[in-house]
Amino acid sequence: MQTVHTRQQLKSTIRSWKEQGQIVAFVPTMGNLHDGHLHLIKAAKQRADRVVVSIFVNPMQFGKNEDIDAYPRTLEQDSARLALLEVDLLFAPAVSEVYPVSLDKMTRIEVPGISDVLCGEHRPGHFSGVATVVTKLFNMVQPDIAVFGEKDFQQLLVIRTMVRDLDQPVEILGVATVRESDGLAMSSRNSYLSEEERKKAPFLYQTLREMIEAIRKGNVSYLELEESAAKKLENAGFRPDYVNIRNANSLQPASIGDHALVVLAAAWLGKARLIDNIAVTLKG
Ligand code: PAF
Repeated sequence: MQTVHTRQQLKSTIRSWKEQGQIVAFVPTMGNLHDGHLHLIKAAKQRADRVVVSIFVNPMQFGKNEDIDAYPRTLEQDSARLALLEVDLLFAPAVSEVYPVSLDKMTRIEVPGISDVLCGEHRPGHFSGVATVVTKLFNMVQPDIAVFGEKDFQQLLVIRTMVRDLDQPVEILGVATVRESDGLAMSSRNSYLSEEERKKAPFLYQTLREMIEAIRKGNVSYLELEESAAKKLENAGFRPDYVNIRNANSLQPASIGDHALVVLAAAWLGKARLIDNIAVTLKG
């Protein structure tokens, strides 16, 4: 595996692949790789001749009081895992390589509507930071395919919308959430959980599953389901930012008659902000 740190090195390698007509798949990450990332990379390998992975903890998507300093950085360990998976190229740029000017002077991409609800409401500017860095990385890597996890359901929708609206020439592939054996969705932020909190953490997914079961059985009292789920989480020691049943395409509150639904939650457990979701398509 080749590791590069500059745009220049990245471009010359990718140019030579493109000249040979090879298909390039790209998996953008912030590092601290877990099995969830490995599934994204495997999906990329199945679809392309070459796989590029980036590791970049993007300052633009973190709010002022968020965990950018604490965010786990494990480049050496990540690089060894990627080499074992026979990834072709690791791009690990410094902040100054991606943002040569200060962040407040940078052009930003906004994806209105879909970015302003749920996590966007609790993390103002977050999705603009994601959309901007993903666009910059797409421009640098020029992939044919880019792979993202469905665990970040809203992020995936923001990226799909951006690619459609800006005619970005890349196919977006979503990959199902990878879970621990007790159901907890894999995430780099799970490392913030204490032993005690780690035992409680799967309750988030369990709560979403109960909501989905009720919806499948025909319960359309969405507000009541949301309120009772939030209470259950609070009683179990979580601090929910939101637990919502939404239209899976617009992320607006679900209406009776909507077929494509998604139940999404973000909740704090100690220092970890956990997010999870389950999508469902109702028949009829
Ligand atoms: O999902 C992530 O890890 C990040 O939001 C991404 C897509 C790599 C952009 O920084």
